[in-house]
Amino acid sequence: MSASILDGKMVAGLLRENVSRDVKRWTETGNRKPRLQVILVGDNPGSHTYVSAKTKACLEVGIDSDTLILPDTVSDKELKDTIRQFNNDDATDGILVQLPLPQHIDPMSVIETIDHRKDVDGFHPMNIGRMTTGQPCFRPCTPAGIFEIFNYYSIQTKGKHAVMVGASNIVGSPMAILLSRENDSKATTTICHKYTRDLTRHTIDADILIVAAGSPGLITGQMVKEGVVVIDVGINRVADNQSEKGYRLTGDCEFDSVSKKASWITPVPGGVGPLTVAMLMKNTLLAAKKSIYPV
Ligand code: GUN
Repeated sequence: MSASILDGKMVAGLLRENVSRDVKRWTETGNRKPRLQVILVGDNPGSHTYVSAKTKACLEVGIDSDTLILPDTVSDKELKDTIRQFNNDDATDGILVQLPLPQHIDPMSVIETIDHRKDVDGFHPMNIGRMTTGQPCFRPCTPAGIFEIFNYYSIQTKGKHAVMVGASNIVGSPMAILLSRENDSKATTTICHKYTRDLTRHTIDADILIVAAGSPGLITGQMVKEGVVVIDVGINRVADNQSEKGYRLTGDCEFDSVSKKASWITPVPGGVGPLTVAMLMKNTLLAAKKSIYPV
């Protein structure tokens, strides 16, 4: 078998067109534009790249955005005071603190400082808790985007064995929750992580394999079964002196060998990444409309 490509970039384009139309309708009925406040701490090059993709997408769909860049010496208190100012600003609909944060700052306590009604990343315990119990919430953007791929390509999850490799708060953990929920995707779900013994024993049994481990080429063709659907969330920079930038992006799957056995696979880049951005746009519009948490 040779896999068909799950074209995340194309699906994200369609979603962004929908958001753009909805934003237009929203502003034409007398409302101000939705507004996203991004807070970026330090000079992690990956984070700067992601944040510019997010603010560029805002501009495209008609969402106002601003990026506040803080030095990586910023104190925990200064960062939280800044967040509280945006919590209290009626003209700010969504707040996003780009992760990772410097070592001296506890990311979870920062996320808890964000007003959950403005938490367009869906990382606040209120949103995670409501997601876990099936109540309206902001869903984390990458898992939500992966479900948009399943939906667009009519990939059925009900009763399938979904294996999630990676258990981060951003992707693996919320994705596994959504996959396993009776009211969402109804899949039998296994979560693997860095302590999993004999990873292949689990991945080889996956009907749907989602990999968000941040480990280039972790999954090889020998580790998957024929016909598996593969979602590769990894975006790893690997040195490449053939490329102008000195690096290229690669996923957590060894694309050539895995795609020979899979039925469907996401490419890197152009797979899941663009959907994360599109879902952020959608969440920001929901925040502006107060659709999840009416006041
Ligand atoms: N770092 C990597 N992915 C994300 C994301 O989706 N949101 C935020 N805030 N930081 C990230």
